[in-house]
Amino acid sequence: MMRFAVIGDPIEHSLSPTIHKAFAEQCGIDLAYERMRVTPDSFDDEVNEFFSAGGRGLNVTQPLKTLAFNYAELVTDRAMNAGAANTLKFLDNDMVCADNTDGEGLVQDLHALGVSLNGKRVLLLGAGGAARGSVGTLLGEQPATLCIHNRTEATALQLIDDYARLGKVDWLGSATSEAEFDVIINATSASLHGARPDIDHALFTGAVCYDMMYGDNARPFTKWALANGAKAAHDGLGMLIEQAAASFMLWHNIQPDTARVRKQLSQAQSHSR
Ligand code: ATR
Repeated sequence: MMRFAVIGDPIEHSLSPTIHKAFAEQCGIDLAYERMRVTPDSFDDEVNEFFSAGGRGLNVTQPLKTLAFNYAELVTDRAMNAGAANTLKFLDNDMVCADNTDGEGLVQDLHALGVSLNGKRVLLLGAGGAARGSVGTLLGEQPATLCIHNRTEATALQLIDDYARLGKVDWLGSATSEAEFDVIINATSASLHGARPDIDHALFTGAVCYDMMYGDNARPFTKWALANGAKAAHDGLGMLIEQAAASFMLWHNIQPDTARVRKQLSQAQSHSR
């Protein structure tokens, strides 16, 4: 049986095994998919052992995405752009290829939600790993403008500089900016620390808002946006499913039906509330 796993720390609440098993069942593929708690210190040993024992692919989550990128002999363009990987594939020639499907997951979810970025004014909050993994794909949607705001300006300016060859990203300096946006995407981890990105809540008026986290972790931001006039506010459950579908495609060369799994998981999420 082909073996796959998701690695990270913490990892116990990851939905990736549920999603990949549902895709595999749909497609008639027999596979094992487990969760493995792996820390940065044990990364090389655990990953070497997994692949030596016949493992075919890994999903990689925090805090291991940069390590996964550096581990692989081959990297896709989108992983190269992000400098981070969320998917590793063991190839027939014994090499490991790193990909980053986070940006694709975000954009596919926005499409499924009926949100187009083409010609729109988009604000991305945050400049950490989650933001970095998405900028290339966001630029590919050809928004009218893509702005970034981050607590630490230098990190955002570095990100803007790193992506300069792919397109223009603007720094939104002032938290009380008069700017207007059609779509606001929260890629910060502020909610995990009981905080909010330091933007003027007037920016939410009329915007479609999106938090890359899902469930309880997204709610502080989505509630804040809706309370301040956002047109809609979505969490990142669909992004998780769509990035998993892109990893599944890389491993198995089959596009799974994400709509069925989206329905299944959002029902499970609303029951657990
Ligand atoms: P991830 O991989 O989840 O993006 P990360 O790389 O540690 O995690 O990045 C976290 C992001 O959330 C960063 O943009 C961080 O801002 P800084 O660059 O200033 O650190 C942002 N962030 C985290 N806590 C925050 C808070 N309390 N308020 C605002 N932004 C915060």
